[in-house]
Amino acid sequence: MDKPTNVCVLVGSLRKSSFSGMLANALMSVAPSSMKPEVVEIGQLPFYNQDLERLIDPPPAPWTAFRQRVKAADAVLFVTPEYNRSVPAVLKNALDVGSRPYGRSVWDCKPAAIVSGSPSAIGAFGANHHLRQSLVFLNVPTMQQPEAYVGHADKLFDEHGKLINDGTRKFLQDFMQAFANWAATFRSHSHR
Ligand code: FNR
Repeated sequence: MDKPTNVCVLVGSLRKSSFSGMLANALMSVAPSSMKPEVVEIGQLPFYNQDLERLIDPPPAPWTAFRQRVKAADAVLFVTPEYNRSVPAVLKNALDVGSRPYGRSVWDCKPAAIVSGSPSAIGAFGANHHLRQSLVFLNVPTMQQPEAYVGHADKLFDEHGKLINDGTRKFLQDFMQAFANWAATFRSHSHR
């Protein structure tokens, strides 16, 4: 059997009872067996500052660990809320940290997918598409269809964070299958 697709799951919210975190758990639970998804923490990453990027002295250890973790992954799944119609700073910071030093971005050619979620009806569409803008520049082949804007996220989970909406579960399952197919396409062309 082929090695499972190792997927980094990056969640754009740090709060404990985050709907994005619940969504990420739900997505991982319905992933096909060909995938091995794992949440990679981003809240511990110091704000990106080029002054800390010395090529002789080591950069901040959390940056190095994060870069190595993403580099080793076959694919990345972004699960994010929307802050002021854009990407939460913590997630943008993770993108920036992974993108440097110049010429050594860990994002390059890494297949990805985005699920955005919000208690509002439009499902964090703005964050989803702002994120896509950065991913175009970072040369991340991001799955285009199906799109995933999860609205009314506050109504989808019980008090333990368990998904209680069957329609959403089916949608997330189909999404993860499509993502597995998407990532597999790039894996078969990978030079690694
Ligand atoms: C929000 N929220 C929000 N919601 C939305 O649909 N569009 C938006 O632009 C914003 N803007 C925004 C800014 C800031 C600073 C906060 C704290 C919140 C509400 C947001 O969707 C809600 O708090 C979610 O519960 C946040 O996601 P998590 O933490 O549950 O994953």
